[in-house]
Amino acid sequence: MIKISHVTRTYQEANGRQVRALQDVSLNLEAGSMTAITGPSGCGKSTLLHLLGALDQPDAGEITVNGIALQHATESQRTRYRRETVGIVFQFFHLLPGMTLLENVALPLILGGSGQAVATVRAVELISLAGLREKANRLPHEVSGGELQRAAVARALVHRPRLLLADEPTGNLDSANATRVLDLFHNIHQEGLATIIMVTHSREIAAQMPNHLEMADGALQSMAQGMAY
Ligand SMILES: Nc1ncnc2c1ncn2[C@@H]1O[C@H](COP(=O)(O)OP(=O)(O)OP(=O)(O)O)[C@@H](O)[C@H]1O
Ligand SMILES: [Mg+2]
Repeated sequence: MIKISHVTRTYQEANGRQVRALQDVSLNLEAGSMTAITGPSGCGKSTLLHLLGALDQPDAGEITVNGIALQHATESQRTRYRRETVGIVFQFFHLLPGMTLLENVALPLILGGSGQAVATVRAVELISLAGLREKANRLPHEVSGGELQRAAVARALVHRPRLLLADEPTGNLDSANATRVLDLFHNIHQEGLATIIMVTHSREIAAQMPNHLEMADGALQSMAQGMAY
């Protein structure tokens, strides 16, 4: 499903200095696997998710997801991949401020060509699963950080993505709501073939995932058996 080979990503800072965010990372993940990634701040976790989501390109190396070699794909193939194959929960939410939670959650379906009615029904389902039924018609600035985070999770799952990339999806949540988010992930995982990769700072949450990878200084440290090469 996911094959990452010798991927390097270097950022150029304004002062000309180079930051090597990822260094020669190689990893294979099977379709339908569920993996937690932990590691200290700045070790490259978000950078890796952005590359997997085709939001960014590596300087070197190859990433193939579902048979699509991302670096060789055309811009329209990459757009389609982002829209159809991937669901992303960003570290900083990225909900659209002028739309209600429900409209935000329905958006991936609308962009994917679903009609308004179908999109709304499915979005209500996800909003309810996320425990946000009463907040569905509020704007993002009218709800709490934890509620925003759950809405972001609902939005990432609404179109049943094959690959779910979640960057600290439980970071702002108390343990009851963190459990709710994890339950959502488990639901989506059992519902179909979703491959799930979740970055977390919580070892407790990582321990609840079947696979656990650790990163440090732009590289993978330890690996679950048979997963990374
Ligand atoms: N746009 C950028 N320009 C320059 N450097 C960047 C940029 N984005 C990230 N970096 C640097 O790349 C490294 C990896 O960043 P990344 O965001 O992947 O870390 P992270 O593991 O997600 O950290 P955190 O746990 O704090 O979210 C860091 O040193 C960071 O400062
Ligand atoms: Mg990050």
